Amino acid sequence: MNLRCDGLTKTFGRHHALKGASLSVEFAHTLALIGPSGGGKSTLLRVLAGLEFPDAGTVEVNGRRLVFEENALAAYRKKIGVVFQSFNLFPHLSAWDNILLPLEKVHQFPDARQRAAAVLERFGLAAHAAKKPAELSGGQRQRVAIARALAIAPEFILMDEPTSALDPEMTAEVLDVIAELRASAQPLILVTHEMGFARESADAVAFVAGGAVLECTPAREFFQQPRSETARRFLQRILKY
Ligand SMILES: Nc1ncnc2c1ncn2[C@@H]1O[C@H](COP(=O)(O)OP(=O)(O)OP(=O)(O)O)[C@@H](O)[C@H]1O
Ligand SMILES: [Mg+2]
Repeated sequence: MNLRCDGLTKTFGRHHALKGASLSVEFAHTLALIGPSGGGKSTLLRVLAGLEFPDAGTVEVNGRRLVFEENALAAYRKKIGVVFQSFNLFPHLSAWDNILLPLEKVHQFPDARQRAAAVLERFGLAAHAAKKPAELSGGQRQRVAIARALAIAPEFILMDEPTSALDPEMTAEVLDVIAELRASAQPLILVTHEMGFARESADAVAFVAGGAVLECTPAREFFQQPRSETARRFLQRILKY
């Protein structure tokens, strides 16, 4: 995945969520967005997902410039997968229908049923297909959400803190799934507070603070030698316990 952002700005009322965020990543499978709360990670991810229009700036994904106009974005959104912290599953539908219905109704895949069955199998969810979200554990719910995102064979996947609503065991279960995606070379952009995971599993890290990307480097480099004082302080604080 190649990704380039230049000078992204986004204001909500008088609040500046992004103040000229720029980053450039080449040939990375996994990009982790990390940084302090309120720094702009989710806003940046939503712009990359085509869910939020920036006030200014450009985004280029795999050499193509995103056109921030509703029709163009609708086509773009169909090619990517998004996974949220809160799963966003339909509560009245079974795991099977949560996965199958978008494949049939939104994407009109002729092989929708085969695709749904394949991702349920791949993520160890076949035995839970008939259950509704309330009958699944948090980790299973998030695996269903990831399976749903994967079923369309997306160009890349975006995840916003996919484990932050989970206890440690379920977090490990979901991180295993994400590690498997990485091993299968599925391009992935992930907002995470799991520093150990970012260090081990991300190829590149973008450190987002104060509405800007202060560093965008290979993950190993970032954790060994953060360049900005803000990142150094952030890591010291967060790795203390
Ligand atoms: N829809 C919105 N309306 C108003 N302000 C918003 C909106 N979305 C984000 N903001 C503000 O923009 C800033 C950046 O928010 P964002 O959610 O991108 O941060 P974050 O880095 O994801 O934080 P966290 O780690 O807590 O999730 C915050 O100060 C937030 O309050
Ligand atoms: Mg956020």
